[in-house]
Amino acid sequence: MIKPYKKHYAGRIIILTTLFSLLYAIVRYNIYGGVPWKDLPLFILNKGISLASLILLTINFSLSPLNNLGIKVSDKWLDARKLIGITGFLFAFIHVFMSFSILNPSYYPVFFIADGTLSVRGGLSLLGGIVSFIFLWVYNISFKPTIKEDKKLIAMITSRKFLIYAMIFTGIHLLFMGYSGWLTPNKWQMSLVPISLISFVIFFIGFLINLIGRK
Ligand code: HEM
Repeated sequence: MIKPYKKHYAGRIIILTTLFSLLYAIVRYNIYGGVPWKDLPLFILNKGISLASLILLTINFSLSPLNNLGIKVSDKWLDARKLIGITGFLFAFIHVFMSFSILNPSYYPVFFIADGTLSVRGGLSLLGGIVSFIFLWVYNISFKPTIKEDKKLIAMITSRKFLIYAMIFTGIHLLFMGYSGWLTPNKWQMSLVPISLISFVIFFIGFLINLIGRK
């Protein structure tokens, strides 16, 4: 039977998050950071897409734990979760492709040492990204109607433990990527916070909400 269509906020949340993330990346890095405009299509777009992905996935993970904590989340937000989660995952997918296509010392000097091989920090950050991506991929399977029959698998994929691990690896990805830049606010262009720090703060708030509120 076809379910009646329920109006929800997914479209608005996705559009606003994406616009904010892309505009912030352009203003922070192209306009004030001196990154050449030729790098807009991939290097800067990748920063915007990865921020949007992180915000959408954090919203997706955090709404029902917030409800559990007694903060009333309206049905228009709760019903938006599925579309927000799928879009967040799609953006992460694009981010992975974009990152690998320009993964070299000229674009990401902190990920490499002088001989062109990965630094410890680069290796740990990339490992965190790859593992969290695999977790997200598996989680995304739970949206597939055919898998829904398998109650045991769904319970495992959507369990508290699984999502907490997925989030921890995203945190590792962000921490090793950005921590050195977070400690030197005097170097931030026009006092604009680096995207990796904004992402880490959003991740950390979402992580705490899930740690306390997820059953
Ligand atoms: C195979 C997996 C992944 C790889 C290879 C990867 C690679 C990268 C690279 C190279 C950067 C640096 C971008 C830059 O500074 O311009 C980055 C940043 C970032 N990544 Fe990933 N990533 C992966 C997975 C993920 C996942 C699953 C998320 C979760 C949403 C994510 C979220 C972010 C965020 C928010 C940033 C910060 C952007 C910035 O500071 O500029 N990444 N990633």
